[in-house]
Formats: sequence, structure tokens, C-alpha cells
Amino acid sequence: MCGIIGYVGNKQAYPVLINGLYRLEYRGYDSAGVAIMNEEENELFLYKSQGKVSQLDAKITGKKTAGTIGIAHTRWATHGEPNDINAHPHSSQSGDLVIIHNGIIENYIPLKKELIGRGYSFKSDTDTEVLIQLIEDIQLNENLDLFEAVRSALNQVIGAYAILVFSRSNPDTLIAARKSSPLVIGKKMGEYFIASDPTPIVEYTKDVVYLNDEEIAIIKRNQDLRIKTIRNKDKTPYFEKLEMSLSALEKGGYDHFMLKEIFEQPHSVSNCMRGRLDPRKGSISLGGISDYLQKMTNADRILIIACGTSWHAGLVGEYLFEDLARIPVEVEYASEFRYRNPVISENDIVIVISQSGETADSLAAIKLAKSKGATIIGICNVVGSSISRASHAGSYTHAGPEIGVASTKAFTAQVTILTMMALLIGRKKGTITRSKYFQYIHELNQIPKKIKHVLKSNDDIWKIAENYKNTRNFLYLGRGYNFPVALEGALKLKEISYIHAEGYPAAEMKHGPIALIDEEMPVVVIATNKGTYEKVITNIMEVKARKGKIIAIITKGDETVKELADYYIEIPETEEFLVPLLATIPLQLLSYHMAILRGCNVDQPRNLAKSVTVE
Ligand code: AGP
Repeated sequence: MCGIIGYVGNKQAYPVLINGLYRLEYRGYDSAGVAIMNEEENELFLYKSQGKVSQLDAKITGKKTAGTIGIAHTRWATHGEPNDINAHPHSSQSGDLVIIHNGIIENYIPLKKELIGRGYSFKSDTDTEVLIQLIEDIQLNENLDLFEAVRSALNQVIGAYAILVFSRSNPDTLIAARKSSPLVIGKKMGEYFIASDPTPIVEYTKDVVYLNDEEIAIIKRNQDLRIKTIRNKDKTPYFEKLEMSLSALEKGGYDHFMLKEIFEQPHSVSNCMRGRLDPRKGSISLGGISDYLQKMTNADRILIIACGTSWHAGLVGEYLFEDLARIPVEVEYASEFRYRNPVISENDIVIVISQSGETADSLAAIKLAKSKGATIIGICNVVGSSISRASHAGSYTHAGPEIGVASTKAFTAQVTILTMMALLIGRKKGTITRSKYFQYIHELNQIPKKIKHVLKSNDDIWKIAENYKNTRNFLYLGRGYNFPVALEGALKLKEISYIHAEGYPAAEMKHGPIALIDEEMPVVVIATNKGTYEKVITNIMEVKARKGKIIAIITKGDETVKELADYYIEIPETEEFLVPLLATIPLQLLSYHMAILRGCNVDQPRNLAKSVTVE
């Protein structure tokens, strides 16, 4: 997610800004920039670059940075790929106004068209540059001060924003505004620190105001803070004391990024559906694939290619597309696909799933499939990543930066995208009736709330982990939609706790793995299935008959399995095809707690990288 930091006061701004950018790095980003106004010389210094904050810092070394007002930004690209031009801050046409922005202006295209019609030109592909041009256009045409121009512009904007704006001609005032994206203002003896979260502020002051949605702050050095709503209503600033320590803030108050990202899933799954799923209208729209939707609907075959956790999401995708849209699907490990001389035709739809969008094998698989004429649909979390750029079309998961090496929120976001694709195509093909479509969309819309409910089991799951932390092997069993969940649960455990774990289709246990079962072998069974429930019960009995220990993921209220299991975790009832979005959560938490109890480095497990950009 983008990071924002601003300063106005009596000290040099640059040290506060660059230090603030370093503090905001944990949010994940792909470019950074800074703008400082020097009143004495009446000069604006604006530096920005793709890449790390350290690269920006190096680029600025030896350059002019003197000034006591400035803004700085780390960009997590949404509109426009990561490069120097698209990096923030952005200036208005006259060069007088400068802005940084965290969020998405959904109606930036019509606004941009209108501004171009009025003679404005644009350097970047960003929605942010449209906003600063709009503010300038309003200020010039209506002869307004900066606050009024920002207020008027924000009344025309649809979307989410946290912005900081200042004007060269008025270099003692910062205007801050927010809607859906956070902004916090710290105050200390006549100076102000503004940021996306308290991380860059807490070392200077603990007196902060959290801006509320549709509020605008007028921030002047050596003066009281003024806050108004975008409807021009005065608001009294409510200052509160920051309790948190700096180190805690870098992980949003969580001990590890992985735990933070597990708990972000109600939000990240909501974000993934935002602007795409409309439960009131009963509609799904995936703009990123609209040009290829008919081709996908008519496809004779869909190939899904990925690695690791993304491959497990792809396996859920196979069940989704075959069950809901009746399209044959083959799921391939990218590393195998690219070297086995696969049969590919121009009729094939190839969906490539990748959180980082940089996995070398997946990228190579795309190149091979593309060379044979297939259509490539990308599902990535990183905007502007190589895989997203190499695809013909696709959908970003918008899960926000995933910093923990073990993928969690990206998985549920990937499955959410695949679910929306399968539902949309199933409806277009008529394999899903209108009434069922409404019902499924309504239930999918409930999933973030139901994930929140599952997260309440966190303490119970810690107790289960306490019991098994010294186990050397685990078996994960699931049927149907839960088979990929069993695989994903096993991968989570082995990659962060270093315990050997295997995922298996539950019925396959009889064909070998049952030989492993004894009192030392805990077996995690995802037992929520409706269609094959009795058969899963049989599998549980087979394990118990050999003294195996059962940890069951069950549908809330399932008294039968409660009786049979040594431990159980309940998840809310939902449609069978939506269970992976809920059943995976307890397995993420189980692996997290096991790893912590074993003293493992959860966020940077040994031997693993967040993105495998080499073969
Ligand atoms: C999952 O927890 C691992 N970090 C790993 O398997 C990962 O899913 C795999 O490397 C694929 O990465 P990608 O989604 O960025 O392509």
C-alpha cells in the first residue's frame, strides 16, 4: 500500500521526510519521491525514482534539499506501472501545486478527458496527476484558495484518497484530506507531521489526530490545526496520545507480518471484490478481462499455471471452472509445463497466477504459451509486475503488499478472483441460473464477515499448536474443493515450521499414506463437505482405528465430527465452492503458531524468498 509523509514547521524537512519513507517501507512499494519548498530561494526541489527508498536517498545526495515544508511518498502502483514518471509527488500544469496520494480515483478517466479538453496535458498514467490538475483548474477558474479548491475537487471525485497538497506560492500551509485511506497528523510545538500511519511520527510526537473520512485539514506552522469537512463544516481536532511503540507499529501492532496479513483477510478479500461484485444489482464485473470474456466463455479448455501457493489457488480454480462453468481445466506447475513440450493451441486460455508477478518459471511458461498463440490471463497482486505486463489481460487481486514470505492473504484473494471469474462465465454460459447467481453473489459478499468469525478461533488454534509443536510429521486430508486446501495447509506448515507435512485427497489415504498412521501422526481433516460428508467420516474412523490423532476443520455445529476429533475448529456454513476461503484460515493460523512455538523465523523462513525470480 502507498505510504505518505509530510512536514511543516521550523526544522529542515528533508531528514524528517526521508526517515519517514524508510519507516513506511514495510507497507510495500515500488517507487518513491519527495518534494520540498525552499521559501528563501523560492525554489521547489522535487526528486522521485522507481525502486527503493535507499536509491532515492542516494539520488538526492549532494542535491539541494533545504526547506521547512515538504511531502514524500512510497508508491504501491495501482494506475500506471512503477517508473520514475508515475512515482509521486505529482505537480500541476503550472508547477505551482504538488500532491501525493494513497488510494484510487475511480472516475479519473472522465475527469482526465474533461481536463484534456480544457487544454491540460499529462506526463504520467496516474489517477493522482488528474486530481492535482483538477484542483489547479478549479483554483484558477474560480479564483479560490487552496483549501477551497481541494474541497471542491474532492466533491467531484469518486474513490478512495489520502492526499497531501501544497502550493509554491503559499509555502507555509499543507492541505491534507482523506476518504477510506488513512491519514494521521502529529503536532509538536508549532510543527506538524502527517503520515499514512503513526510509524514515521511516533519518534517526534505522541500527540496525534486521526483524520476521519471526508475531512480536510488546513495545517500551518506555528498555528492551531484546523479541520473542515468536504461540505465545509468545521470540526474540532480531537488529539489523542499514541500508545504504541515504534517497533510494534511497523507491523501494524502485530508480532509478525504473516499474522498481520492473516488478520487482514476480511479487508483484503473485500478490497479484491470492491468495484467488481455488486450484491445489490446481483452482478460481477471484471474490467480487466472484459475484452477476453467471450473467448474465455467459449474456451474448450483452460490451463492454469502457477507455483506454490498460487498453484494451490489454481487447483481450487479447476474445481470452480469445471463445477460452475463446465469448462475443462488443467492445472500445471509452471516449472513442469515449460519443459515438457506441452500441447498448446491458439484456442487455449492460459490463466497464470502469481502474487509477486515475478516468478521466473511462471513468466517462462507465459512466453511458451504465448509463442503457441494461447491467450494469457494474469492474476497478480503486484501492479505493473512482469507477469501482469506479459499477459493479454487479467485481474489484480488488490490484496495490498504481502510481506511475509508465506503467502496467506494473496491466496484467498486469488481464490476470490477465480470464484468471480467462474461465476461470471458460468452465468454467461447459462450453467448457473439467474436465481442461483444472485444467491452465490450474496453469499460471496458475506465471506469477509465470515472470515472475521473464523479469526476468532486464533487462541483455540494456539492451544492445538501447543500440543503438537514437537511433532515431526503431519498429514492433511481433504476432498473435492478441500483437497487443494489440504495441500495449502501442508505447504504453510512445512515452509515456516520446518515440520514435514503432506496434503492428500482423503480417499487416497488407503492407497499408501495409511501406513504412516500411528499415535505420533496428527491428521488434519477438512470435514466440511456436504456431498461426501459420510465418506470423510469413514476416513476419520480409519485414522482413529490406527490411533491417529484427528484435528478437524468442521462446519459450525457439526456435533458428529466433534465427538470423533481430538481437536476441532469450526467455520461458518457457506456454499461448498466458497469453503476454501474459510477453511484455509485456521490452517494458516495453525502453521503460524507451530512456527512461533518452534522458534522459527516466520516472516523470513530459512532458504525461502518472497519471490522466486530465478529458475
Ligand atoms: C507460498 O507461501 C510460498 N511463498 C511460495 O510457494 C509462493 O506461493 C510461490 O513461490 C509462488 O509465488 P508467486 O505467487 O509470487 O508466483
